[in-house]
Amino acid sequence: MNKLLLDALHCQNDSGKVPIWIMRQAGRYLPTYRAIRKKHSFQSMYRNAELASEITLLPLHEFDLDAAIVFSDILVVAEALGMELHFVDQKGPVFPSPLSHVKEIDLLAVPQVTQSLGYVAETIKILKRHLTVPLIGFCGSPFTIASYMIEGQSSKDFKKTKQWLFQQPDAFQQLLEKISETTIQYLLMQISAGVDAIQIFESWGGQLLAYTQFSAFSVHYVAKIANAVRHTGIPVIYFSKGSAAFAQEMTQSNVHALSLDWSCNLSHIRKIVGSQVALQGNLDPHVLYSPISTIQQEAHSLLTSMRLDPGYVCNLGHGILPDTPMDAVKALVEKVKSYETSKNR
Ligand code: CP3
Repeated sequence: MNKLLLDALHCQNDSGKVPIWIMRQAGRYLPTYRAIRKKHSFQSMYRNAELASEITLLPLHEFDLDAAIVFSDILVVAEALGMELHFVDQKGPVFPSPLSHVKEIDLLAVPQVTQSLGYVAETIKILKRHLTVPLIGFCGSPFTIASYMIEGQSSKDFKKTKQWLFQQPDAFQQLLEKISETTIQYLLMQISAGVDAIQIFESWGGQLLAYTQFSAFSVHYVAKIANAVRHTGIPVIYFSKGSAAFAQEMTQSNVHALSLDWSCNLSHIRKIVGSQVALQGNLDPHVLYSPISTIQQEAHSLLTSMRLDPGYVCNLGHGILPDTPMDAVKALVEKVKSYETSKNR
């Protein structure tokens, strides 16, 4: 097995090579994904273990990536808690009956994940028979999941979520506890099925929470989840959009790696967080709309700034955009590969 990613997540990559994978690498920018998507809804794709494992592998057929990520969605945890969920074309996730009153939190039942999310374990088991690179399992942060359950769909300002947080902080934390409990069971199931690393997606906390709230509403729950899976030895990556200001707080969760967006200089962050935590990121996904030579230059300067860092994983700062050209992705991955082999400049 190619262990570059795992060595880097343990800050022990002294090979001179840099691992690369791409958030949302199994998605709509791939013609092969779009061909399958024409025949199936997104939900029927991730609920069908055979199909989900096939889709997970699609980007690896195209590019020399150092990891696969299970094809699923963070919102399956809300579904497992009893919330009806749809994915609507051009709109994204929709909960037709979002949480509208704190009393409804009591009605959410922490599920037996092996039943409600057993298809994810099946997907992982199939994949482990085929893969020669590590498999990343994932979940959303409790705050990000809660925000979708309250808003009912993506939102610009997440006003209802913040109203709950300020008006009924105890009930809001009770909701985060329920999501955390389910998430812990879900990750332990993914780990027993065979994933080699975990990424926790905090898509909204970094942008929505005030500096004084981030530790209590994001880091606290990520730490709880990370602590509950630590005995397995599986490394945990904490991704947060809007994270630059919170890097130091994020290390309090004792995760193995922080995944940061493009609003910071990773080599400066390295000085702030010390050498015990791996760093992942952080190219702006929009860079992939540039001419190939610009993509190569941007990748080159990122790689040079993190050169020979034993705990560095190359990635975008957020998910790849659905209309990204294939040639751009190819150029990025090839640049990382050629940089690692030349070990110079
Ligand atoms: O990275 C991968 O390739 C693995 C699969 C994956 C998906 N979603 C598939 C997906 C992962 C890791 C996610 C995470 C996810 N899902 C997040 C966190 C990451 C982030 O972007 O911040 C969030 C917030 C969601 C919720 C979600 N799912 C949204 C907001 C949307 C609609 C927006 C969009 O990008 O389309 C989805 C749909 C979704 N999840 C698609 C895919 C491939 C598109 C489905 C389609 O084909 O229509």
